[in-house]
Amino acid sequence: MAASDETVLRIEDLHTHFELDDGVVHAVDGVDLDIRRGEVLAVVGESGCGKSVMARSVLRLIDRPGRITGGHIWVRTGDGTEGTDGMADMVTADARVVRSVRGKRVGMVFQEPMTSMSPMHTLGNQIGEAIMLHESVTKAEARERTVELLGRVGISAPERRADEYPFQMSGGMLQRAMIAMALACGPELLIADEPTTALDVTTQAQILDLLRSLQQDTGMAVMLITHDLGVAAQMADEVAVMYLGSVVERGPVAEVFREPRHPYTKALLRSVPKLGSRSRERLQPVRGMVPHAYRRPPGCPFHPRCDEFIAGRCDVTVPSPVPGPEPSRVVSCLLYEEVSA
Ligand SMILES: Nc1ncnc2c1ncn2[C@@H]1O[C@H](COP(=O)(O)OP(=O)(O)OP(=O)(O)O)[C@@H](O)[C@H]1O
Ligand SMILES: [Mg+2]
Repeated sequence: MAASDETVLRIEDLHTHFELDDGVVHAVDGVDLDIRRGEVLAVVGESGCGKSVMARSVLRLIDRPGRITGGHIWVRTGDGTEGTDGMADMVTADARVVRSVRGKRVGMVFQEPMTSMSPMHTLGNQIGEAIMLHESVTKAEARERTVELLGRVGISAPERRADEYPFQMSGGMLQRAMIAMALACGPELLIADEPTTALDVTTQAQILDLLRSLQQDTGMAVMLITHDLGVAAQMADEVAVMYLGSVVERGPVAEVFREPRHPYTKALLRSVPKLGSRSRERLQPVRGMVPHAYRRPPGCPFHPRCDEFIAGRCDVTVPSPVPGPEPSRVVSCLLYEEVSA
């Protein structure tokens, strides 16, 4: 692993599978990614391409019949004792390390707030518990921090709100509370999985603003999972485009969106409205359907839907990552690979 001091998360050739009665779902099938300190990475791709399973794998939140079957997830633990360069591999880490990374080093916000909030406890108790789990503070100190956190995420009258239950809050308010909980121990990395999809447009914009200002204040890195390319363009420094369980293109968001290389990225970009375009052009959805999870096409997984498909090549050879044209860009597409003699 050649991680620099700046790397907070490095995923190498990650595979997460679901072994079902009818076959094996290769939900994550060879993901490579890394996030540096303070960076905002957007992960985009159609529904079912493995974004959530990848994110949950980082915190080892995959339940049977799911299983991480290969690869590495290097997370900075900071104290230098867990492994190479102070980074631990979450794939093989023991329960103690996993617990210390969850919530403390890496915070996570889920799409559906109720999956990580208990309906039985007040907000204040849940956030307070999260703080006390990782830090040696008194109950009163945890309470004080909780109220301060709730204020910071824009919840009014936080002292009173802290004593309310999740069902007493609106969707936007709950999402704010979730963010407060994820930030409780000052993580180095926040993973936000579609944090705004369940919200109306105005609330969505407010939550994105909040995430951005928290990121700027704290300098934490953010992995923002979204199917909305506009959100990615607006929020992120870097983008990773996923298709059927692997990253097909990545690089600085401005460069990738200005000059996409992978035919899948091009197709995704054609499917979003352009601001200021005069004609009422029809939007073009990505042609064809995402293949059934059990039947992964041979060769390049995108070839059955690709406009630039080369018969005898794309349906046979699995593309490997090709760097360029800018230094930090990578694309996995045979159009850019030198044909070896
Ligand atoms: N618990 C599970 N059991 C079986 N298959 C699963 C399970 N969870 C996810 N999968 C499968 O793994 C694949 C990836 O799912 P995932 O939820 O990661 O997609 P996603 O990119 O997050 O999609 P979306 O944009 O809709 O959230 C899908 O084919 C899905 O059906
Ligand atoms: Mg998802």
